[in-house]
Amino acid sequence: MIVANRLPVDRVEQPDGSRGWRSSPGGLVAALEPVLRANDGVWLGWTGGADETGADTEPFESDGLRLVPIPMSSEDIEEFYEGFSNATLWPLYHDLVAKPAFHREWWESYQRVNQRFAERAAEVAAEGATVWVHDYQLQLVPRMLRELRPDLRIGFYLHIPFPPAELFQQLPWRRQLLEGLLGADLVGFQLPGAAQNFVRLVRQRVGHKTHRDLVYLPDGRTVRAAAYPISIDWEGYQELARSEGVVKRAKEIREALGNPRTVFLGCDRLDYTKGIYARLRAFGELISDGHLDVEDAVFVQVAVPSREQVEQYKILRDDIDRLVGRLNGDLGQIGRPAISYLHSSYPREEMAALYRAADIMVVTPYRDGMNLVAKEYVACRLDNDGALVLSEFAGAAEELRQAWLVNPYDLNGMKAALLEAHTADERELTRRMKAMRRTVAQHDVAAWAEGYMADLANAGDHHAKPLRPLKSR
Ligand code: G6P
Repeated sequence: MIVANRLPVDRVEQPDGSRGWRSSPGGLVAALEPVLRANDGVWLGWTGGADETGADTEPFESDGLRLVPIPMSSEDIEEFYEGFSNATLWPLYHDLVAKPAFHREWWESYQRVNQRFAERAAEVAAEGATVWVHDYQLQLVPRMLRELRPDLRIGFYLHIPFPPAELFQQLPWRRQLLEGLLGADLVGFQLPGAAQNFVRLVRQRVGHKTHRDLVYLPDGRTVRAAAYPISIDWEGYQELARSEGVVKRAKEIREALGNPRTVFLGCDRLDYTKGIYARLRAFGELISDGHLDVEDAVFVQVAVPSREQVEQYKILRDDIDRLVGRLNGDLGQIGRPAISYLHSSYPREEMAALYRAADIMVVTPYRDGMNLVAKEYVACRLDNDGALVLSEFAGAAEELRQAWLVNPYDLNGMKAALLEAHTADERELTRRMKAMRRTVAQHDVAAWAEGYMADLANAGDHHAKPLRPLKSR
């Protein structure tokens, strides 16, 4: 059983007014679908809409997947989703890039909604089933679920960074969250550093004994915390990038842009962690300094609308709108804007065409758990060309060492890296891209899911005698 805040389908209104579902083919769905099918699995999650009655709980099937909807009222959406999940935890876990808001009502709501997920999972799960809980919205579920169903094997995976103790400590409910996660047999993170942060916090704040990646609980259970860097459907992206439709569309995109010499590309959810503002400023300065010319360089920025009711996201949208307007007003020429700005989401095919059309992919978040866009770009560069400029603070930087790595807070450093990537010769580009392609090909999303599931199968056997720690700290 997969338990995630969102179901892998979006609700769509049929022409006759009835309800329908469209699968949202994200990377996670692609990775977990085979595991679910092979194990007669089910997926529990929110449908994305408001349900004031809370009555919409009937399981249904979509494309052969068994789905169990968890209803949320508009109050839940405001307090649990927009509030505690995305205005408290999200900024706190991303290095305080924005100031987290702490509200006791939001915390109440977070507990209530996590309890609802846990209760529904407890009702639906078969005897001795394996349950895999996902992401920061549901950190209390592992413990709540274990209390209801001690027979289950429970895994948890955090898709975003886990902050250092110094930051996490600010949270008024820090201990409860740690205890929530300790309900799992295996707690997975993107990077080893995050797993270490977690173990250290458990030792300091909850007082359990720990040794390396293991936590020893007083009831005899052992919990493991380890890193499983997530990835993409490598074969799927390669196939897409190779397809006739995508090749044709990539050519059309370059033509529509006026066949410039260099296309720079950024693709992000419109989120303040992504560093969109600073990256566009860096590009603008390269033009005003005379290093680049709007006659032969353009920056395409795709910003996917996200969490639009949350205040910080509204402010960001206005800031970016203003900056793009100013840069185009100051630097553009007729038919030649400096920035081609698209506030919209696109299907995978269009994204693959954009990746193929772009000479330089610019991924400069202030903090990011992994960043799959960087890996998708690499997968679509079938000819071993194109440059990746990547923030040191994206999880992907630990694997994609051959990118031009930048500190997104250092504007001059970013400008220098963009120029270097711009002037790099073919040999240099090929050398770097080849190495990155090898890395991503070897660590695709199927390997990620298999690795995690194999470790979960071996983790936390609560019938076995607990291991004794070698040294208590
Ligand atoms: C990040 C989170 C996911 C989340 C996604 C989209 O990738 O790790 O849990 O689903 O953003 O955000 P949304 O708020 O629209 O679900």
